[in-house]
Amino acid sequence: MECCVRQGHWPQRISANRVRHRPQTIIRLPIGRWALTGVLDYHEFVRTIIEPFRIKSVEPLRHTTSEQREQYLKDAGYNLFQLRAVNILLDLLTDSGTSAMSTEQWAAVMRGDESYAGSESYYRLEAVTADLMGFRHVIPAHQGRAAERILFTVLCKPGDIVPNNTHFDTTRANIEFRGAQAIDLPIPEAADTQSRIPFKGNMDIAALERLIEAEGAARIPLVMITVTNNSGGVQPVSLANIEAARAVTARGKIPLYLDACRFAENAWFIKCQEPGYADWSPKQIAQKMFSLVDGCTFSAKKDAFANIGGLLCTNDDRLAEQETHLLILTEGFPTYGGLAGRDLDAIAVGLTEVLQPEYLEYRIASTAYLGRHIADHGVPIVEPPGGHAIYIDAGRMLPHISRGQFPGQALAVELYRHAGVRSVEIGSVMFGEHAHHELLRLAIPRRVYTQSHIDYLVEAILTTVRTAFAASRSSRRLSSYGTSARGSAPW
Ligand code: F0G
Repeated sequence: MECCVRQGHWPQRISANRVRHRPQTIIRLPIGRWALTGVLDYHEFVRTIIEPFRIKSVEPLRHTTSEQREQYLKDAGYNLFQLRAVNILLDLLTDSGTSAMSTEQWAAVMRGDESYAGSESYYRLEAVTADLMGFRHVIPAHQGRAAERILFTVLCKPGDIVPNNTHFDTTRANIEFRGAQAIDLPIPEAADTQSRIPFKGNMDIAALERLIEAEGAARIPLVMITVTNNSGGVQPVSLANIEAARAVTARGKIPLYLDACRFAENAWFIKCQEPGYADWSPKQIAQKMFSLVDGCTFSAKKDAFANIGGLLCTNDDRLAEQETHLLILTEGFPTYGGLAGRDLDAIAVGLTEVLQPEYLEYRIASTAYLGRHIADHGVPIVEPPGGHAIYIDAGRMLPHISRGQFPGQALAVELYRHAGVRSVEIGSVMFGEHAHHELLRLAIPRRVYTQSHIDYLVEAILTTVRTAFAASRSSRRLSSYGTSARGSAPW
């Protein structure tokens, strides 16, 4: 298999059923201005990238009328978290815990060993994580934030500082709850939602060095890197960046941790975009990512396709002992940590499945397809399209709606009102005065929605923008794009 990056190619439909009469060895997938040119064996004749699974069990979607949705919105106080999920057609609130489990995962659920202590399920999970992550200690927890709480309780004290490329909100909250300070150090290019660089989720290593110099290593109990950088627009982090962070933290003897929720999606970006890794398997890349750090927190609700679960990993024996003491207090015995044995088995299988190249290729291409198709019609997204979600820069798109009137929330409400799609505001509603941008996130659950759902979504976003925000300057631009480009639109 070969995978490389070319500039200047534009998106191609991933389900256009383009059957070539000559055998094709090259496919092109869109990632912003970069196109992935990959060769997977099954692409030799048919270029279309398909969902690498078939559907055995289905869950009906409920259609509602716009009058009904108007009422639901009123009842919810226009807070989309307060909607009843049954009244939502496509739910893009989060990719967390919303994955479809595979037949192998469901089979593993049946094998779950529910022994209180020493469960076989734990040892199966431990074997998978030992091979993939290589940490000496793997402590299960009921989800990522439970792992965070234990880690920061043990490592941080009031007045400490924890740098990250960008903290997720539960990470920040758990640090601040300890009286420590959570500092984001994204690279400067990340401030511009429109800049298109390959590893826009990277940490600003020079800023990290300056921080350690200014505050002293003693005040910094750990440095974290979040892969992919969720709150930083779902952008990936390069191996070179993790290596550079390692060099800096090693000098100050500061532990380096990954917030590894989406490690596999990040590994795929490394394979496709970072020189030197095209021939590596996603698993080999992930192994290298984990080998560079002293520990990680992990939410199994993301890249392990599990509906619940988390992990706290470390190579430090003393720390692991303190962590397990705390674990017993609130989560449970160390061989189950707040989970059922069957959950541990589902996570073990998921961690293996998520690294399959066919899955990751489809996953990232599907996200990029959504991003490019709305961006090409004038919707400003956080560029380039990332891993598990597309962010719309609502502040930029709706300049007539001031920050205080919450453009991201306005767009989220309209998208539900018009098309039954739930998204989430990531801006002043979520972060108050700390918000850097007024964004709307469309998070894509794993293996849940098909290509036609994504096509519906593209159409829903474009028509919502044209109809609901017809008065704004940018939506006039959008409607003219829409009219002229209708022939090439996906519907
Ligand atoms: N770290 C990151 C980067 C996350 O995205 C999340 C959760 C967590 C930690 C916490 O994990 O939910 O298992 O406790 N993100 C979800 C989201 C909720 O929608 O982005 P958890």
